[in-house]
Amino acid sequence: MALPPPLSAKDEKSFAYETIKDRLPLIVTRIVDFLARHRTNFAKQYGEDAENECKSCISAMDKLRYEIARDKPILLLNDNHTDDIHIWNEYLQKEMDQGKVISWFQSNWLLVECYMYRKIAEAFNLTAHLQHVDPFIEMKQHTFYSSVQAIDVVLAQLNIDIEQTTDPVNNKSTIEQQFYNYMEISLWGNQCDLSLSGGANRSQEHDPFHQITELKTHILINHETSLFNYLYDQQAYLLNFDVCIDFVLDNAGFELLTDLCFADFLISKRLCSRITLHLKCFPWFVSDATKTDFDWLLEQLSNSSSNSVWQIASKRWQQHIQNGQWIIQTHRFFTLPYDYSYMQQISSELYCTMSQSKLIIFKGDLNYRKLVGDLRWPLNERFETALRGFQPTSFVVLRTCKADVQVDIDLKVGQEITKIDPRWMVNGKWAVIQAFFKKQTEKDI
Ligand code: F6P
Ligand code: MG
Repeated sequence: MALPPPLSAKDEKSFAYETIKDRLPLIVTRIVDFLARHRTNFAKQYGEDAENECKSCISAMDKLRYEIARDKPILLLNDNHTDDIHIWNEYLQKEMDQGKVISWFQSNWLLVECYMYRKIAEAFNLTAHLQHVDPFIEMKQHTFYSSVQAIDVVLAQLNIDIEQTTDPVNNKSTIEQQFYNYMEISLWGNQCDLSLSGGANRSQEHDPFHQITELKTHILINHETSLFNYLYDQQAYLLNFDVCIDFVLDNAGFELLTDLCFADFLISKRLCSRITLHLKCFPWFVSDATKTDFDWLLEQLSNSSSNSVWQIASKRWQQHIQNGQWIIQTHRFFTLPYDYSYMQQISSELYCTMSQSKLIIFKGDLNYRKLVGDLRWPLNERFETALRGFQPTSFVVLRTCKADVQVDIDLKVGQEITKIDPRWMVNGKWAVIQAFFKKQTEKDI
């Protein structure tokens, strides 16, 4: 089957064009600002060399900004001591060998946008003292603290719901309703990503439980009932059933908190027995959560001596980690330019372990783009077709729409939504809970 062309900034009316023209340079400018403000701190902390390294990172960012604006060709990466570099360079080299010039506005949006974050990492990797500096750290931490009221509300209710010993066999409908609540809170948490806003703060100011009721009609595809039944029917709540979930997390701050609430709910109500939480191995798309962001969040909860609600939740979460019910993982595949249809070929061990899970939960817009290959699919294309063979197991994407690609929507429905909101595909105000259920083969039974 001939595939549709990839999204690209070649099309000046596209969201890719807006992103590369306006948003990416703004993100790089914010890094320059961060470095300029911290230059003397770095010098104090690591010595004079660090100050010079800080200057070299600023120059690298200026160069990057210039190259984006001028649509310069993209070159191979240069920081030889990281373990993903050969995969990146092989990918780029293959494109170049086909005689293609890879450039910011002419090439695939997914490739160049991923490349920008890897290029930022390169500048820091090439220093001796600043390798572990995360230029987005302040923005990520700020979104957490500017959402404290919403955090209080969610955690207080979560603690109540979890402390209630509801027997899953006799209280199916209560657990079902709570499942929808935490899944939808996690879904709308995805509005807080900082890449869309170019790094400007995106806090959660509303009561999330009210918000999910108001936003229900903005969920364009909603497979939550099938998902609940799918998990409930696994009967993990009857002891001795090992039901694993892979949770591919997205953004730090408030969104990460909502994802962990959902993960806590799934474990505590024994809808599954183990969850692998996938984090990024370096700063990615501004707000994506790294292991450091995860640890920081847990620390904020456990250090909040005046807030017992936070502490209770944090103790439970630490226990999930200690018991092996939450497993924290960072895999380099998630920060490569490859879409998910390449996972089996590029990271076969990851594909293989994910295949053994009952369900994968993919969070966020970028994961959606990677699932459907960031191609210009017709709106009414079947999800399964757009996945192009990626079927490790059943999965769901919880995504607020922030890129002009979407499948499995009736064309008439699409026209109706466009009348209500012409920018529905990209403004993050609309969402999907879109599932793919893998058909069981004889081998699986
Ligand atoms: O820059 C905008 C954007 O790249 C989206 O198009 C992209 O998919 C999003 O940022 C990141 O969103 P999320 O954090 O939900 O993956
Ligand atoms: Mg993100």
